[in-house]
Parts: sequence; structure tokens; C-alpha cells
Amino acid sequence: MSFFSPKELVEEGDLVILYLSVNSQYPLQVRKTIKNRNGQWVENKFQSIYGILDVYSLVGKRYGEKIHLPKGWGYILRPSCELWTKNVPHRTQIIYTPDISMIIMGLGLIPGSTVVEAGTGSGSLSHAIIRAVHPTGHLYTFDFHEKRADAARVEFKDHGLSDCVTVGHRDAVSDGFADVIPCKVDAVFLDLPIPWDVVPHVQKVLKRGGKLCTFSPCIEQVQKTVEALKASEDFIQIKSMEVLQRPMSIQTKTLMSIDFNDESGCEPAEDGSTKKLAPVKKDANKFRTLCTTQTIQGHTGYLTFSTFVPAADKSS
Ligand SMILES: C[S@@+](CC[C@H](N)C(=O)[O-])C[C@H]1O[C@@H](n2cnc3c(N)ncnc32)[C@H](O)[C@@H]1O
Repeated sequence: MSFFSPKELVEEGDLVILYLSVNSQYPLQVRKTIKNRNGQWVENKFQSIYGILDVYSLVGKRYGEKIHLPKGWGYILRPSCELWTKNVPHRTQIIYTPDISMIIMGLGLIPGSTVVEAGTGSGSLSHAIIRAVHPTGHLYTFDFHEKRADAARVEFKDHGLSDCVTVGHRDAVSDGFADVIPCKVDAVFLDLPIPWDVVPHVQKVLKRGGKLCTFSPCIEQVQKTVEALKASEDFIQIKSMEVLQRPMSIQTKTLMSIDFNDESGCEPAEDGSTKKLAPVKKDANKFRTLCTTQTIQGHTGYLTFSTFVPAADKSS
């Protein structure tokens, strides 16, 4: 299966997203059997809030089709990068869609781009990078945690993305990337604790005019990164930002209408006029309005973008 090739029907081996509501979505592998927590192969049944789903029964269903469960229903969706980021098994903290959108745009990724990423983490961002650069581009992604690198490699293979991604197990700070990638790249993305120490390695692999983006949760990390970029004298267009999303939803609300001319509920005032005790509530009115949602994603991290222009080139 592939994340990016549109297909109509669910086939054995596909990854599907069971969509029950905005906040209840589950990635399911359509196989007859799966391994349980004890490592035993068991029938592939998924216990949802609406009852048990026989996952293998999804073979042959149409993507987008409504699925009836014992106590409700859901939809079977084709996986996308956005749905994967929402449902990815978290092996680490991940990057979410508001930051991802800005990263893809800020790095100027297009089909054919080549990119280095460290660390791979849970592969949330990697999926979006691969979608942006495929089918002719390539992502070289590295993590010094061997099991995370292995898990990401398996996931990319399961998702049909292996042709566009190479996963390496290596320490980006001590070893860099220059000896393991076959060409200079268009962009580098760093999501690791000390990006400033990776700047010398980035200088060795970026094409002239290539873009670097670093993601750091703390402002002190941003300061050190920017100092390292400036000290190298090889980076221009250095800018940092925080991306905040403000989700909205259209909702139907009910409000009582008030009749200010209704004299009932009035009493005589001392000056002879009438004093209103309380406005008279009339009918309940339903209307549609725009609401901000209750839970807004707070601070995730700061993005720092820069463009690589080696000092030697600038003077010529
Ligand atoms: C926050 S996670 C990255 C999450 C990823 N961006 C995502 O969206 O799923 C940071 C990863 O960097 C890795 N890491 C930290 N320091 C590293 C280094 N020096 N070299 C390579 N990987 C490193 C960690 O093992 C971890 O998996």
C-alpha cells in the first residue's frame, strides 16, 4: 500500500484509519491476525467505543464507506500525512500539522527536493516531507536511538514509502551526515536538543542557497542556534517564529430573546414612573455562530529558518 496512491477499495495489508469522531480515530492494519501484547498471534478484532470490529472484514470495502458497528458507526478513511500525525504511535514528542505546514513551505520543498532530517523520532514530520518531495526526491533521516530508527524504517516500508526515504542510525552531533549521503541536499531539518552543534555538519551537506530549519522547545536553544548561524557567517535570512493555530467551529447556540416593551414584571417607582424588575424572556432562538474550540494547542516549539550562502560566495 502507499500513502500517496489513490485507491478505491481496501485490500489485505492496507493501513486504514477508523474514524469515529474528530477525537476518536484509530489506525488499523487490515490483516487476519495480529500480535497481542504477549507476542501471540490472535484474531484481528478491534474493541471500539461502539463495539467490536472484525478488522479483516474491511477487505473489499470502499474507502470513505460508512461502517456499522454493534452500537454505532464510523468511516474507513485512507491514511494521509495529517491523519497519520494525529494517530502516529508516539515513540517521542512529535511535530504537529501547524508547524509541519510552515516547515514544508519555509524549506521550499517540492517534488524532486532532497532533504536531511535529524532526529527521526516518531516519523510524524518525515511522512509530510516524503509526500512533498516524492516521487523523484529523497529524505535521508537519522536518529541515534537504534530502536526508533528501526521502527521508522519498518513503518515507511509498511506505508509503501521506502523508495523515497533512507533511515540511518547515527549521532548527528558527533558524526554529521556528509559521509553517508550521496549528494548535497536542498534542505536540512533538525529536531534535536543541541542543533547549534550540528551547524558545522549542515554546512558540509547543504547546497548553496539551501535552507535549514531547526525546531526547539526553549527560547534559550533558539538563541544559541542563531548565535552559531551568525558566527559561521554562512547563513542569511535568519528568522525565528512560533506557529500558533486557532481552531474554530460553527455551532448552533440557543439564546432567549428579551422583550423590553413588555410591561409585566414592572412596579411603580418613587417618582411615579414604573421600574422594571427584570426583562421578560420570550422565545428561545436558535442561531448559528462561530466559536473557538475549548482546547487550543499551546506552545510546541520555535522554528528557526535560514539560507545557506557560504561566506566565500558572498564576497564574489
Ligand atoms: C523530538 S524527537 C523528533 C520527533 C520528530 N520530529 C517527529 O515529528 O516525529 C527527537 C529525536 O531526536 C533524536 N536525537 C536526539 N539527539 C540526536 C543526535 N545527536 N543525533 C541523532 N538523533 C538524535 C532522539 O532520539 C529523538 O528520537
